[in-house]
Amino acid sequence: MYDSRQTKELQKKTTGWLSIAKDPKHGDVNKKNIDELRDCLRFHEYRYYVQNDPLVSDFEYDSLYKLLEKFEKENPGSITKDSPTQRVGKGLIKDFPKVQHLVPMLSLDNSYNADDLLDFDRKVRELSGLDIIEYCVEPKFDGASISVIYENDLLSRGATRGDGEVGDDITPNIKQIRSVPLSAKFSEYGIEQVEIRGEVLMNKNNFKAYNDALIEEGIPPLANPRNAAAGSLRIKDTAEVSRRNLEAFLYHVSFIVGRKAAERTTGNDQPITHSGMLEMLWNLGFRSPKKEMKVLKGIDAVIKQVHDFEKERDNLGYEIDGMVIKVNDLKLQDRLGMTSHHPRWAVAFKFKARQGTSKLLAVEFQVGRTGAVTPVAKIEPVQVGGVTVSSISIHNEDYIKEKDLKLGDTILIERSGDVIPQIVKSFTELRKGNEKKIKFPTHCPVCNSELFKPEEDAVWRCINLTCPAQIVEGIIHFVSKDAMDIRSFGEANVRKFYELGLLKDIPGVYTLPWDEIKKLDGFGEKSITKLQQAIEDSKKQPLHRIIYALGIRYVGETTAKTLANAVDHLLQFADFTEEQLKELEDVGVKVGKTVYDFFHNKNNLRLLLQLEKLGVQLKNEKKEMISAGNLSGQSFLFTGTLTKLKRSEAEALVEKNGGSIVSGVSSKLNYLVVGEDAGSKLEKAKKLATVKIITEEEFLKMLPG
Ligand code: IVH
Repeated sequence: MYDSRQTKELQKKTTGWLSIAKDPKHGDVNKKNIDELRDCLRFHEYRYYVQNDPLVSDFEYDSLYKLLEKFEKENPGSITKDSPTQRVGKGLIKDFPKVQHLVPMLSLDNSYNADDLLDFDRKVRELSGLDIIEYCVEPKFDGASISVIYENDLLSRGATRGDGEVGDDITPNIKQIRSVPLSAKFSEYGIEQVEIRGEVLMNKNNFKAYNDALIEEGIPPLANPRNAAAGSLRIKDTAEVSRRNLEAFLYHVSFIVGRKAAERTTGNDQPITHSGMLEMLWNLGFRSPKKEMKVLKGIDAVIKQVHDFEKERDNLGYEIDGMVIKVNDLKLQDRLGMTSHHPRWAVAFKFKARQGTSKLLAVEFQVGRTGAVTPVAKIEPVQVGGVTVSSISIHNEDYIKEKDLKLGDTILIERSGDVIPQIVKSFTELRKGNEKKIKFPTHCPVCNSELFKPEEDAVWRCINLTCPAQIVEGIIHFVSKDAMDIRSFGEANVRKFYELGLLKDIPGVYTLPWDEIKKLDGFGEKSITKLQQAIEDSKKQPLHRIIYALGIRYVGETTAKTLANAVDHLLQFADFTEEQLKELEDVGVKVGKTVYDFFHNKNNLRLLLQLEKLGVQLKNEKKEMISAGNLSGQSFLFTGTLTKLKRSEAEALVEKNGGSIVSGVSSKLNYLVVGEDAGSKLEKAKKLATVKIITEEEFLKMLPG
């Protein structure tokens, strides 16, 4: 798309625009050169979203984008349809009109093994009369299928697959996908109108973050990134669609209207192979599978390639469910044509299923640490992607209704990547009539007190604070990996110690009767020493882990980190008002109230004092160490505009005081120093519990003198 000369030139122009963005007064922004700014922004979008190799920081991109926005606001007449600012939608979408695809969106025939592929190849050879066929092999992306149309080089429509003939016009949402260009120079290939098919995806990282956020909100997570992508495309608020960070691969040119040769200005020939089409799309700025595809002669090489690629499946950033094998020669594709359902020139090779069918045998009700009663389905054990699943959370009563689940139902299970298995659906058409309704209990299955359901809540709760289930679950959470991380403790030991009366509550973790424990089976000297050491080590965990470990409602790892940053000692929260809590980033009404209630409850304060007495560190250790002016061992990253220091001065100060500068947000980063208008680094850091987010003032206070 951009050769090295163009890249250098655009990078040079970018530097110029960045200095104008810093101080627009000195820059000469006019209608004539504003196109150059747009070109720079498109170039950086391409580097970031298509090539995954950005050349400017998010902050720099944002400052150029804001400059363009400012200029366009002052000169509305200058706005072009494909300006990077034109992705943003206005208001909510009313509905998605039905539209006819230019060419029906057929699906592919499936194959599952080498024999199926040999069969496919035999048919192609017979029909074509050729001895050996050239194939293009590419990933089968597991997302939501779309078609996009470009007319006179502009994106004019984006649609869902629908029934294959008619889909929904979702153009405003397609424009939120930054790897789909708003314009592309198809005219250089003599193309006036083109329809392209592709797949919209939510990558694995974004999917995990999205599901984690749902879980933190108490909303059932989605079964797979495919559902997340498909659901996102149907949202009527384009700003929310934009926040979902969708991606798209475009892999098939399905329809072309050409321009007469005489009218053509430049003479790029239209490709005559499928791989050539993918190359053309890539050169025009699309994310096509150019780098992932392989052109191979003969089916044996294809069989090897699909098996080789399957091994890479888990290393990819996005989900694929197989490979697609396409006859590469477009003329031959035409000759082969289609059956009523599938093209004869392509076949999908499906990888081992991560889905399986099973039977819903029973439902057990478990009481969690917040008293929430969660139904757990016991199912006929089934292998899903190499793991045996026999029990699966079905979240709450609404979820059971929504999925229409009954005891005895045949159900579809999916395990997507490292996400916990989910029920996709029940096969209601297979019911025999003897399936039974799932009855929710009215009383706690553990302590038998009456269950309650607040109106705004989706879950039934046991509100008896002395309910053994809540106490045990609370301790299990306290010692767990993401909380105090007491490695050799584990769920089973907590349950065992509790049942034997050796452990009654959280402080009890630090006063275990070792003489009694020594008498138990499986507790030799070695394992006891290991457990004692792990318990001792946990006393020095950073404050945010302790906050998270306390299991305050709605306080996930991110909020725990925000809270830890706000105090020098945990008990200071006892003096915070609800208003003060709500001033903290990410703390809204709901969290503010539960945190306030927690630190204004006598029993909780007593528990914290008890923990401190037992040696658990409730001070914000990091803060203390830093106030001594020693940054050694601490890593820093600056984002946004600093107001008191130049970025280079700030970085030099870090290094002078023994700290180090890192280039990106990762688990290696200790402090993100946030200036004005911070962008995506801040967003990323918020998701990492280990990163402390501080202001420039806070940073200055950390320095000596
Ligand atoms: S080609 C006319 N290529 O898999 C053939 N499809 O049934 C057009 N898919 O509905 C499809 N990755 O949504 C093609 N590289 C790829 C694909 C792909 C995913 C989807 C597509 C289609 C389904 C197959």
